[in-house]
Amino acid sequence: MLVPELILKKRNGASLSEKEISFLVEGYTSGIIPDYQVSALLMAIYFKGLDTQETAFLTKSMMESGSVLDLSFLGQRCIDKHSTGGVGDKVSLALAPLVASEGVVVPMICGRGLGHTGGTLDKIESVPGFNTRLQPDEFLRLLKNNGLAIGGQTGELAPADRKLYALRDVTGTVDSIPLIAASIMSKKFAEGAHGFVFDVKVGAGAFMKDKARAMTLAETLVSIAKEAGRDAVAVLTDMNQPLGFAVGNALEVSETIDLLKGGGPADYREVLFVLASHMFVLGGRVSSTQEGRALSEQVLNSGQALEKFRQMIESQGGDGRVVDDDSILSPSPYSTMIQSDKDGFITSIDAYETGMVSILLGAGRQKSEEEVDPGAGIVFKKKAGDAVSKGEAVAVIYSRNKDVLTVAAERLLNACVVKNRKVFPEPLVLDVIKG
Ligand code: URA
Repeated sequence: MLVPELILKKRNGASLSEKEISFLVEGYTSGIIPDYQVSALLMAIYFKGLDTQETAFLTKSMMESGSVLDLSFLGQRCIDKHSTGGVGDKVSLALAPLVASEGVVVPMICGRGLGHTGGTLDKIESVPGFNTRLQPDEFLRLLKNNGLAIGGQTGELAPADRKLYALRDVTGTVDSIPLIAASIMSKKFAEGAHGFVFDVKVGAGAFMKDKARAMTLAETLVSIAKEAGRDAVAVLTDMNQPLGFAVGNALEVSETIDLLKGGGPADYREVLFVLASHMFVLGGRVSSTQEGRALSEQVLNSGQALEKFRQMIESQGGDGRVVDDDSILSPSPYSTMIQSDKDGFITSIDAYETGMVSILLGAGRQKSEEEVDPGAGIVFKKKAGDAVSKGEAVAVIYSRNKDVLTVAAERLLNACVVKNRKVFPEPLVLDVIKG
């Protein structure tokens, strides 16, 4: 098979066969097919799409690019959650320990920042020492001992997704429904969970800007899971403004610790409880989402989720003292306060622009090989709907690069729209799709 021919075939809108797709995935994963050819192929897929069969073939070859875990030896329901990507979306950090602390096993293989969105791996790695490069035997040992593991795609688990994900991030090919679906499902199948809760983000800061596209993605994810005999629920949640107040890796971990101690922003708590209640149902722990909600609130309030979070950090080599002293997660050294230039109400905070500003500050990557600055990012002081006075702080930005602060501050101020009329933000949960 010739790679240029396959690129042309997709560029001209034809369907690729199972053999052709696995040839491309295997060739790219092993390094035989170079980035520039796969970049062209991804762009062709971006514009011409993949049909249901091609998406299933792509998911399968990406899953088979590495080991596929068998969790049956645990004898328990294993349920994972995955977000399609948002800004300030740190929910996995609290959700995994909360659910695991009640006996539902959570095998979580997650990703790094992608495009303007953050990634759970980058966030949790801001805890000094935390190791996400888990080999399969280590991943399984953690699941057996703690009921919980958070890892990335190592050379062993869905390595094709690790390479493709990084390439999509820098080639403008992220927001394609089949590419997102195959990326997510290949990781999810490789980790061996029995059921999944998908948080499909909708709005300015999501890859799916409108509800119709988000529904299509949600239905695609749920149907791929169902075809493979797994349970799945997709919850559509609003991503027009960033979730919570913190955007940036260590800043989001601090906000999570605050939440696990009983504080934290209301929107973060709400999305956490909704997703946890579905995970409890899929995990067989409760029989309705109402019961799941009550259990989630009880587990959070009792401090049980916080203790599980500490155990998760320590058992993956991280410094568990962050739980008691989050100054270990100190923000980057240079900061600027952004003040409102008028009186009124915040009508919107553009989550996409916020994500781009966080990249500029160093919290995300501009090139695939870049390291993120763990302490960089934004802490908002306001949410959409809040009143604000001229001169009052709207946000504080942090970076280790002094030179970017002025431009970042200007862009962020423009992203926070102030008008003289109060608005009520979108509902947080827009829909639920069950398998
Ligand atoms: N999350 C993933 O794991 N992959 C994507 O492509 C988008 C969000």
